[in-house]
Amino acid sequence: MKNYTLKVQEIIKETDDTITLCFKQPGLKKIKYLSGQYLTLQFRINGRRYVRPYSFSSTPTIDSTLNVTVKRVQGGVVSNYINDNVKVDDVIEVQEPLGDFIFEEDESLKSVVFWGVGSGITPLFSMIKFLLTTEPLVSVHLVYGNKSTASVIFYDELEKLKQTYFERFKIYYFYSKEEFFNKDSHNFHGRINSIFISELVEKINEPIRHYICGPIGLKEIIKDSLLSISGNLSNLFSEDFEIVKNPEDFKEICNQDIVLKFQGIENKVAINKGKSVLEEVLEIGIELPYSCQTGNCSTCKATLKSGEMKMIGLSKPRTDLNDNEYLLCCSYPLTNNVYIEI
Ligand SMILES: Cc1cc2nc3c(=O)[nH]c(=O)nc-3n(C[C@H](O)[C@H](O)[C@H](O)COP(=O)(O)OP(=O)(O)OC[C@H]3O[C@@H](n4cnc5c(N)ncnc54)[C@H](O)[C@@H]3O)c2cc1C
Ligand code: FES
Repeated sequence: MKNYTLKVQEIIKETDDTITLCFKQPGLKKIKYLSGQYLTLQFRINGRRYVRPYSFSSTPTIDSTLNVTVKRVQGGVVSNYINDNVKVDDVIEVQEPLGDFIFEEDESLKSVVFWGVGSGITPLFSMIKFLLTTEPLVSVHLVYGNKSTASVIFYDELEKLKQTYFERFKIYYFYSKEEFFNKDSHNFHGRINSIFISELVEKINEPIRHYICGPIGLKEIIKDSLLSISGNLSNLFSEDFEIVKNPEDFKEICNQDIVLKFQGIENKVAINKGKSVLEEVLEIGIELPYSCQTGNCSTCKATLKSGEMKMIGLSKPRTDLNDNEYLLCCSYPLTNNVYIEI
């Protein structure tokens, strides 16, 4: 895993609780990335190392800076630290770009629908700019949910793109906390719902690819609607910002002590029910490598030498892992003799 240090060139205030950090590209070796990928930022806050992924909101073919857009999460350590403390000219350590939520070219593709809520707009915004400027035959639709007009990230830029590409870029805004409804101007009250999804798919009436970035509820409703319309989900791609844990999956999990061998040293770690191995190991100050924390990137991959573990909350099925390979961000011990090596 390559690490870089990047200098903050500009900070843009997007909304009351969201900023964009624009990093200067390194002078010699530019960082390459694809629209939809993310950059992992590393901080030391009160003596502890924190690592968080943020999707690029910049587009490699258009923007000269590397931009990430960070929305405050209530009680969140890093998102609030970034919004409150990062300044122009700060130098921040980052990992090389990662992520498979990207646009794959396909000559038969006619329409793409992007579904986003809140900060989920960031990878979609990067892909939208990429598509509009490089794929002149593809029509682009954005369905974007927010609490209110004031919380819409990138509103001005999106509206400008809508004017420039008015023939093939349509935006549908949903507002959950504003009494705002005007079907003609594509403004809707409430949440993105199955009736709207069916009507839009019917109206487009040609092969569509769907990209989703938002809470689990959004993903589920789109999946269910598309399944009932077309019977398959082969054209649907999604990105999760947060791990989704189903309490049912934790029934057989209880507190366990494990042994972790890292950099040649054996460490005994107490894993409390509900906490992943990665969470508990970081808590006691062992600086394991990690990035996405959603079971996607493999940075936290370890080998199980004895005992049994279970992975919970993987954002995607992982058929590439061997039987004894586990992603510690999603791993929970089942027995009292777990020994892991990373
Ligand atoms: C691939 C990927 C790309 C991402 N891209 C972006 C991005 O472009 N912009 C952005 O703002 N964030 C993005 N995130 C989320 C980001 O990495 C952090 O998880 C988020 O900023 C919260 O970190 P924190 O340290 O402030 O919160 P923490 O201290 O880690 O968490 C505090 C509490 O908030 C909850 N929480 C954690 N993340 C979220 C979330 N995203 N929404 C709601 N509750 C949450 C936790 O469960 C916990 O209870 C992305 C995440 C992933 C996996
Ligand atoms: S941190 Fe990405 S898979 Fe665990």
